[in-house]
Amino acid sequence: MVSYKELGLVNTREMFKKAVAGGYAIPAFNFNNMEQLQAIIQASAETKSPVILQVSKGARNYANQTLLRYMAEGAVEYAKELGWEHPQIVLHLDHGDSFELCKSCVDMGFSSVMIDASALPYEENIALTKKVVDYAHQYDVTVEAELGVLAGVEDEVSAEESHYTRPEEVIDFATRTGCDSLAISIGTSHGAYKFKPEQCTRDPKTGRLVPPPLAFDVLHEVEKKLPGFPIVLHGSSSVPQEYVDIINAHGGKLPDAVGIPEEQLREAAKSAVCKINIDSDSRLAMTAAVRKVFDEKPGEFDPRKYLGPARDEMKKLYMHKIINVLGSDGKAE
Ligand code: 13P
Repeated sequence: MVSYKELGLVNTREMFKKAVAGGYAIPAFNFNNMEQLQAIIQASAETKSPVILQVSKGARNYANQTLLRYMAEGAVEYAKELGWEHPQIVLHLDHGDSFELCKSCVDMGFSSVMIDASALPYEENIALTKKVVDYAHQYDVTVEAELGVLAGVEDEVSAEESHYTRPEEVIDFATRTGCDSLAISIGTSHGAYKFKPEQCTRDPKTGRLVPPPLAFDVLHEVEKKLPGFPIVLHGSSSVPQEYVDIINAHGGKLPDAVGIPEEQLREAAKSAVCKINIDSDSRLAMTAAVRKVFDEKPGEFDPRKYLGPARDEMKKLYMHKIINVLGSDGKAE
């Protein structure tokens, strides 16, 4: 058993309380390799933003859970080395799908876990979530749960259609499970193809897809039912079109990739939404930078010469999200 406290990590409790009261959101960036982690920590340390390092089940299998634990511990030390005196870093399991997986993460130094039982019938979702909460809380590890279903594909999680969260269920769910935060479905979705072209309109000038707006009415209903309760938005990449263009201009093929407009995320961050999940945008930044080097310098074979620019691009992206979209800069001095 390794406690996250020994690794210098924190859970999400205080962080979320302050974010809800302060009208901003904490970035939850997925990672599975060193360059991503360096970019996340550099951006967070430079902006003094609390940050959630997210690891999906797929990432855990890819990177190895022991290595991840030491990477997170190293991230705390690296942050201090960069001059961030009191780093507020959470190591979080994204989309845990079983009690055993969540338990194993709690036991291996994670400070927060998500149990995603949203695909199960309501009562089963409650039972499994409560079981994880009862275990995790013994070790002061916080638990995120989910109600409603997001569309899209992300690692092992995929769903054809979304179902908005039903606001009439949230009080019962939060009370009976004891979860610390709740992911809701209001129209965001995982991946770089968040909407089918037939769900969108097209900008007549650029020909680009314009996605349908998020269901803010559902979010506001949830907020009314659970005042001050931390709400989480998954699937919140914006799919920056400049990255899509670079990828496509350098041999890639991402037709009609579309994300959530940043103005809508900015609006959500001001509400009880206190954690915003971003994974695809970092994948796109990395891929765009790597493709550009491969295309423009076909003789290059030193990984540092393409992973270095990829890391710089990801750092730029993370800083932009923190400062201009989530508003979490300066919140962890
Ligand atoms: P994106 O695919 O929009 O980045 O969403 C990531 C996410 O929700 C991780 O759980």
